Amino acid sequence: MRIGIYGGTFNPIHNTHIEIAKAALNQYNLDKVYLLVAGTPPHKDTAESVADICRLEMVELAIQNDKELSIDDREIYRSGKSYSYITLTELKNEHPDDDLFFIMGSDSLLNFKNWVKPEIISNAATILVAPRLGDDTELLNKSIEECKTLFEGEFFLIDYAANGIASSKVREDFYKDEKVKDCLKPEVIQYIINHNLYSEHQYSYPDILKLSEEMKIALKPGRYVHTLGVATTAYALALKWNYPAYTAMVAGMLHDCAKCISDEERLDICESNDLPISDIERKYPHLLHGKVGAYFCSSKYDVYDPQIAHAITYHTTGCPNMNLLDKIIFVADYIEPGRDKQPRLDILRSEAYTDLDRCVYMILEDSVAYLNNNPDMVDPTTVDTYNYYKQYMKEKR
Ligand SMILES: [Fe+2]
Ligand SMILES: [Fe+2]
Repeated sequence: MRIGIYGGTFNPIHNTHIEIAKAALNQYNLDKVYLLVAGTPPHKDTAESVADICRLEMVELAIQNDKELSIDDREIYRSGKSYSYITLTELKNEHPDDDLFFIMGSDSLLNFKNWVKPEIISNAATILVAPRLGDDTELLNKSIEECKTLFEGEFFLIDYAANGIASSKVREDFYKDEKVKDCLKPEVIQYIINHNLYSEHQYSYPDILKLSEEMKIALKPGRYVHTLGVATTAYALALKWNYPAYTAMVAGMLHDCAKCISDEERLDICESNDLPISDIERKYPHLLHGKVGAYFCSSKYDVYDPQIAHAITYHTTGCPNMNLLDKIIFVADYIEPGRDKQPRLDILRSEAYTDLDRCVYMILEDSVAYLNNNPDMVDPTTVDTYNYYKQYMKEKR
């Protein structure tokens, strides 16, 4: 077999990555190309700080229908710093009778002699270099000749000029420039949106502590304890379902921030800020605490992430087609450790970490059953959400 290995951080994977892998595959008659997803050092407080597992899942989505492309995730799961020569040595041992081809970008070639143990890499695999549009071909050929004199092994240029976008540009402009999305698979675009990746709104643990202090003042003691339960449950669910965990915790911390004010105040805030009030909300203004809470996020607590505001708005009723954070907060509010009155809580707590959609549906089922006994209080949004998820679960099965 002729096996290609294409290493990269894939943060995120875009069409040019796939085109390079395919160009190598066709020109060098490879049977398969493995996309070797590199581990990255943790970044702090930057839009680049994407969980390794998210990069991996985006690659999975991007190549799911491509039989010639596969993933190699060993560097993600390896402890400590990951070096290509270790991976190549392992791969050579695993494939003693196969020919290996290591695909790299032209920038990597120019720096190849400074890598750790490059001689092991070029011994284990033929090096295939993918140029970028605008590269100085003469310089690349010179660099290839230099590598050939320094190291054993073969070095070739792939006949392909990558003219697509760089991953850094995708991270920078994803929410600002629609054109960026042209170079991404639709599944990857949806994943980035759903997991709130590359967002400019980043939170850290000190933000959580500050909000916690503010909630201690804004809420009654029992509500504050519930809030801590929701925030920590949201954190755990976010880790499980690969959502930025501190963002989920901020949403959990603020979800009931408008709970301990009077009904008059809630109605007043809605009226003076053009927030719509439904008939049922006018009758039971405590139902407005989600909407007003979302308003307080930016007006009182300097939290401007629209996904957080959305999740808080719908944390009691849910809404059809909830995004990942909506579901996390909706579920966390219902199953946090302080809850003890709802039916089948043990099942729901387990389901939350097994099948989040099913857990959402089960909670809606119980909520609708409860509200049927109190028909006066039924918010139509809860019923719409229940019907949506009933159909959704039917189709999922
Ligand atoms: Fe609430
Ligand atoms: Fe709550």
